[in-house]
Amino acid sequence: MPNDGYLDESVHWKVRNELIAFAEPTHGEVADTIREVGLATEVGQRLGSGKEADVYLCREGRRLTVVKVYRLYRTAHRGGRPIKLESMGQRALQEFDLLDYAWQGGAHVPRPGDRVENMFSMQYLGDAQAPAPMLQHTRLEAPEDFLRATVDGIEGLAEAGVVHSDLSPFNILVHQGRPWFIDLAAGVRVDRLGSPPWERLSEAIRALEHGLGTLDRYFHRYGLRVEPPDILRRVRTQIDRYGIL
Ligand SMILES: Nc1ncnc2c1ncn2[C@@H]1O[C@H](COP(=O)(O)OP(=O)(O)O)[C@@H](O)[C@H]1O
Ligand SMILES: [Mg+2]
Repeated sequence: MPNDGYLDESVHWKVRNELIAFAEPTHGEVADTIREVGLATEVGQRLGSGKEADVYLCREGRRLTVVKVYRLYRTAHRGGRPIKLESMGQRALQEFDLLDYAWQGGAHVPRPGDRVENMFSMQYLGDAQAPAPMLQHTRLEAPEDFLRATVDGIEGLAEAGVVHSDLSPFNILVHQGRPWFIDLAAGVRVDRLGSPPWERLSEAIRALEHGLGTLDRYFHRYGLRVEPPDILRRVRTQIDRYGIL
C-alpha cells in the first residue's frame, strides 16, 4: 500500500476492514454521503474547487444550500498522500466554528448550517439562476460604495472577533450588491487566545496586511485605493483590546 509509513494505526485498521478506500470519491459517492449524513436532501453541481475542498450546490427540502467538503485524498500540497478523516474533520470544524462565530457576531458571512466530519453546510449566496459571482469576476457598477462596504465588512469581522487571513477578490462574493466574506478556513479568532496572545495577534495582523494588499491591487482597476494602513490601525485597536501589541 502507498504511504504506509505516514498512516497511523486507526487508518490501518480502517483499511484492513475496508472502511476507507484510496481513491477520490466520485461526485455520486460524495452526493450519497452528503445525503446519508443529512446535510442536504439533494446534491447538485460543484460550484468551486479549491486547494483542499469542494463546494456543492444542494437542496435542503425546497431551500438551496451549499455544502463544503474537505477532500481526503487530493490536495494542492506537495506529497499528495491520503489525509486522515480526523484531520480533515478538524479543518472543517475549524472553518465551521469561525463561520458560526463570525455570523453570530453580525459579520457579513453566509449563515452556517451543520457540520458532519469533513463537511459542513451553509447559506447559499445567489439566486435561482446562478450563484453569486466572486468579486474577481464582477464588473462593479458602484466600485466606491462597494469598497466602502468591503472595508466595513472587514472591520465588522474584527468586531465579531475574527480576522480573515485569506482576503482576496476570490473569497469575496457579490450578492445583492454587497460583499460577502467566504472561506474562513485559515481565519484567526482573535478573542480566544490559545497560543501566547502576541503571537496570535501579530499573525492575524500580518495576514490581514497581506490580504489588504491583495484587495488594494484589485481596486486599482477602478482607480481606487484601499488604504491598508488606516484599516490596519482601526482593526488593531479593535482586536488588541488589552494593548498587547
Ligand atoms: N455560500 C456560498 N454560496 C455560493 N457559492 C459559494 C458559497 N461558498 C462557496 N461558494 C463558491 O465556491 C467557491 C469555493 O469556495 P471557498 O470557500 O472559497 O473554497 P476554497 O477553499 O476551495 O477556496 C467559491 O469561490 C464560490 O464560488
Ligand atoms: Mg476560496
